[in-house]
Amino acid sequence: MIRPLLRDDGRPSGWALECAGAEYVVALFHERYLATYHWGGPIRPEPSLEIASAPPQPFGLVEDPSASPFSLNRLPQEYPWGRGGDFRSPAFIADSRVAAFGAAGLSPSGPVLDLEYRSWRILPGAPDIGGLPFLRAETVGLESLELELEDPQSGLALILCYTPVPGTAALLRFARFVNRGSLAIGLSRAFSFSLDLPLPARGLDLVATEGAWATERQVSRRPLGLGRTEIGSRRGLSGHASSPAIILTETGAGETGGKAWGASLLWSGDWILAVEKGEEGTYRLQGGLHPELFSWSLAPGDSFATPAALLAYSETGLNGLSSVFHAVARSLMPPVWRERERPVLLNSWEAAYFDYDEARLLSIARSAAELGVELFVLDDGWFGKRNDDRTSLGDWKENPAKLPGGLARLAEGLHGLGLGFGLWMEPEMVSADSELYRAHPDWCLALPSRLPSEGRNQRVLDLSRAEVAEHVEAQLRSLLGSCPIDYLKWDFNRPLARVGSADPSIAEGELRFRWLRNLYGILGRVAADFPEVLFEGCAGGGGRMDFGMLPFFPQFWASDNTDPVWRLGIQRAASLLFPPLAIGAHVSASPNHQSGRLSSLRTRSLVAMGGIYGFELDPGLLSAAERAALAADIAWYRERRGILQLGELLRLEGRSEWGDVAWAMLAPDRGRAIAFWCRPWHRPGAGSFSLVIEGLPESLLYRVVSPDLPAWSRLLSGAELARRGFEFPLPGPEPGEARALVFELLAQARRD
Ligand code: DGJ
Repeated sequence: MIRPLLRDDGRPSGWALECAGAEYVVALFHERYLATYHWGGPIRPEPSLEIASAPPQPFGLVEDPSASPFSLNRLPQEYPWGRGGDFRSPAFIADSRVAAFGAAGLSPSGPVLDLEYRSWRILPGAPDIGGLPFLRAETVGLESLELELEDPQSGLALILCYTPVPGTAALLRFARFVNRGSLAIGLSRAFSFSLDLPLPARGLDLVATEGAWATERQVSRRPLGLGRTEIGSRRGLSGHASSPAIILTETGAGETGGKAWGASLLWSGDWILAVEKGEEGTYRLQGGLHPELFSWSLAPGDSFATPAALLAYSETGLNGLSSVFHAVARSLMPPVWRERERPVLLNSWEAAYFDYDEARLLSIARSAAELGVELFVLDDGWFGKRNDDRTSLGDWKENPAKLPGGLARLAEGLHGLGLGFGLWMEPEMVSADSELYRAHPDWCLALPSRLPSEGRNQRVLDLSRAEVAEHVEAQLRSLLGSCPIDYLKWDFNRPLARVGSADPSIAEGELRFRWLRNLYGILGRVAADFPEVLFEGCAGGGGRMDFGMLPFFPQFWASDNTDPVWRLGIQRAASLLFPPLAIGAHVSASPNHQSGRLSSLRTRSLVAMGGIYGFELDPGLLSAAERAALAADIAWYRERRGILQLGELLRLEGRSEWGDVAWAMLAPDRGRAIAFWCRPWHRPGAGSFSLVIEGLPESLLYRVVSPDLPAWSRLLSGAELARRGFEFPLPGPEPGEARALVFELLAQARRD
């Protein structure tokens, strides 16, 4: 809900955005500046809006010297422009000289400073964000606050848009620039948001991730010190190291307690998120398009909207923050897939790589179907003459040597086995050795007369050009219409570099933006016209997992690393933002193809149940006993996937110094819960410890059992589970030393 805070004369003194357990308050300061007043728990009945007056700073600059002087450098601001008396980083940089340079007869007015507040309005439905990812217009209860500012000299109008996400402690923010002047205005920075957190009582910790291909998202946490900390990507995709997200917690906050603030972007390209500790201990949090790789020339009459930022708040630690992010993630997914259970699939990649024909695929599929698998995904290698990664991207026609009956006959064979049919594609790319490239060598992103940029022997199609984007969309449509495809794995296997277009009039900063905006356009139209196709987003594993892709890809392939021990960390970090429903996780062969590590089938299976459970191996190569064990695991999972995919995730605080990782999924009605525990290496002589599970009704009694510990069970109340937890017999050593156990908690009867 959005509440204008009005004075007696009806003029606004601020605005409060109420979002399920959180409140964001913007104050109007000196009738002219927008100040961040509050982002935290709700303030009732009304915030006073008594901003500390931001008194002039010794050796600082003074605004409004004639009235009540203050220092901008001390004012907590909503979208600062810098270059005035605020010496912290600005949210945008706009200059009418830059774009007008060389245009005869125009008199440049210079950098845009001094935006003044003009008006406010509340609009129903989705705001105009220029075709970028956002909540769907039909989302119930959607309304937005727009605050408008203007620079009288250049005519640049800035509209700050705030949209509470219905039912969650989160809001979306973005900025729209409108040129109402007579000169072009150059934007060289246009963040999605900026805010100045009020001074926290305690210090703040930064929680972020770092990593690379196959070691995605390793969580790192440290106290925030003086200066500016930036994370981001210059790769043209959001990246393996981190989703575009940053989390701040008050010092000492953990999984289950303490305040936490999170910001993320609905954007899948170059990005930056930064937190800057000011001279007096204030914190400025801001981010959006990466300014080094962005520029935009705004012609008179034109407007430009930034990608949206998602701001989430929790007073119940990181688990609380994740549950806000997870709720938003669900709202962003295509409606059909928000609540729909996902099939257990087998992907052919690690089972066969490029080395297969129809008979081999059907043999793998048959043994998968016998285990209870529901969908078969044909990965890379089915098209053109692709037998390795050097050729044929762009030639999306079956290779008759491998598939003499085409995709249609394979799909028929799979359906005959009771399996759905999934297919791999990499639509944004082209191999230099392909029919498409030979026909259109100018269709790639490239700089004229410079060396081309290649990664994995492939180039990136220039989707900023209408004819290229139309071709890619037409190919997708024709493939999806050619035979019954239930699932499409959309891959993207190299970053963008040396970015230029055959149309040299588009500057790089604008080209990178248009490229992604057109991709979103293709994805939006295709996903809308094929709503029953389940799209999985992949970029060499988890290279493009972000809230910008969720409206099209309701699930992601989290990593090419399928080693269960690595996966514990990768999936746990992914769960900070995304629910298990959005994360693909597969059981693969042992020794693992990426790490060489041996691990037990049970451990691999239980770790993969932390996401959308699937397989990446040839079951025909397993022993009869292993196949029987997997069939039992699949049956167990399928019976419980309502909780495992759609329940509420809690990361449990285990003995992390022993490497333990534990998590639980709670059924929405709390009648059931399932908890997992894994220790990556055997610790001889280790004593027992308690697994503590919060969040179940205290007075309910739960029978705790484990299929891994047949002779063991406990009867415990929700209160005891939350305050003391339960101990369990630790498994002994075995080859492939990582050990995992699962527990099921079943509500018995009320005590009172
Ligand atoms: C990278 C993906 O992450 C893998 O799962 C697989 O699809 C390969 N690409 C195929 O080239």
